[in-house]
Amino acid sequence: MPDFVGAVDQGTTSTRFMIFDHGGNEIGRHQLEHEQILPRAGWVEHNPVEIWERTRAVIETALARAGLTASDLAALGITNQRETTVVWNRRTGRPYHNAIVWQDTRTDRIASALDRDGRGDVIRRRAGLPPATYFSGGKIQWILENVDGVRQAAEAGDAIFGNTDTWLLWHLTGGIDGGVHVTDPTNASRTMLMDLETLDWDDELLSFFGIPRSMLPSIKPSSHPGLYGTTRPGGPLGGEVPLSGDLGDQQAATVGQVCFEVGEAKNTYGTGNFLLLNTGTELVRSQNGLLTTVCYRFGEDAPVYALEGSIAVTGSAVQWLRDQLGIISGAAQSEALARQVEDNGGVYFVPAFSGLFAPYWRSDARGAVVGLSRFNNNAHLARATLEAICYQSRDVVEAMREDSGVTLDVLRVDGGVTANDLCMQIQADVLGVPVSRPVVAETTALGAAYAAGLAVGFWKSTDELKQNWNEGRRWEPTWSEEQRAEGYAGWKKAVQRTLDWVD
Ligand code: G3P
Repeated sequence: MPDFVGAVDQGTTSTRFMIFDHGGNEIGRHQLEHEQILPRAGWVEHNPVEIWERTRAVIETALARAGLTASDLAALGITNQRETTVVWNRRTGRPYHNAIVWQDTRTDRIASALDRDGRGDVIRRRAGLPPATYFSGGKIQWILENVDGVRQAAEAGDAIFGNTDTWLLWHLTGGIDGGVHVTDPTNASRTMLMDLETLDWDDELLSFFGIPRSMLPSIKPSSHPGLYGTTRPGGPLGGEVPLSGDLGDQQAATVGQVCFEVGEAKNTYGTGNFLLLNTGTELVRSQNGLLTTVCYRFGEDAPVYALEGSIAVTGSAVQWLRDQLGIISGAAQSEALARQVEDNGGVYFVPAFSGLFAPYWRSDARGAVVGLSRFNNNAHLARATLEAICYQSRDVVEAMREDSGVTLDVLRVDGGVTANDLCMQIQADVLGVPVSRPVVAETTALGAAYAAGLAVGFWKSTDELKQNWNEGRRWEPTWSEEQRAEGYAGWKKAVQRTLDWVD
């Protein structure tokens, strides 16, 4: 058996390839950003061809730098930004439109119509999701309705849909020369089209969006001993490697954080935040604005489900300080600036740029900075931005406690923003529970590698994976109960303003 497993992590802002050894240690990586295409307010697109080219490049470079070839890899896993929608022609390989990204709100009307005639409740019950612009179903409908020729091509079986996992799996296994058209249940559970109990596409849900079943990939287990396929020798790996793992990125991070027991949770801090709580083989239906989603399905085992709190804007609010306001030059500087003040000086910032996701699900909400006085400065705004990341996470933790009765003893964290020491301290303070980050903080790629490696016997069991998890850093709460309650009350008032704005 070769010594390493590879993983492609196709994210919202960049694509990376990582190589891990048996201990889950990083052996090599390369990462490249791709363009964020913003054609008008609320629209966010990616070029799928650019994403495939970046994927090729990061694989080739990481392997070359590590001095490895395809024969050193026991398996390859894929993980991806979820919901982002690609529709392409299986004969020519050409996309019909740019990928419509999960943050894109152009399908607002499609989503709100679903709640006017009872279809929304069917979606909630069967797919575990509230109708929202976030998910793939409305994005596919938009492409079918707005791009010439796609509906006919879809009906003829030529136009096919995939999230970016499916798009890359198709390319890696041969593209127009027999590429496989597959996905896994974690990705499929983000479309509003899959029945959470049968783990199959649901004809009634498809009819709500007018989507022909022939467009959709087949759904295989997230860790697939039968393999999705093998990479083509002519591709970026230069040889045949079993493709045996596929998970949406947030579910992959849950696996990378080895949250295999009921009640274990992780929070990933990226462009948005995504807190997932493992609820085991039981489907827990949220009464408090969380999503019910598939956490993973390993081989023929019963699927494991999760409750998820998705927050659209966290790390991207820090980017906004940099790119739109120009008050910091980079993410790291947000910490230095926020440290110049003791507290938020009464300022709260609710970055509802894509409306508000969990637990509010208000696509009409818009951002607000409240509580300003002449005394306030850039540092207060930077501090309020870091606090917004943490308060939004607290909203989700509260909803999770109400839905599941689970009170967290510790919050496992990962993702880029966890490098911000002040932000993690604030997170422990606003939650009143310790925050813990593992040594290997690249849990998303690691989770995809775990899924792929488990399928081919590189790792024998999830118990073996648990041995690989080691705490790297822990933050303990320091605020008094009174301080915590007061701070949170201010946040709730600020959120109310973003909702009032449109009422
Ligand atoms: O649901 C969207 C999520 O999968 C995006 O994650 O890390 O690519 O921003 P990320």
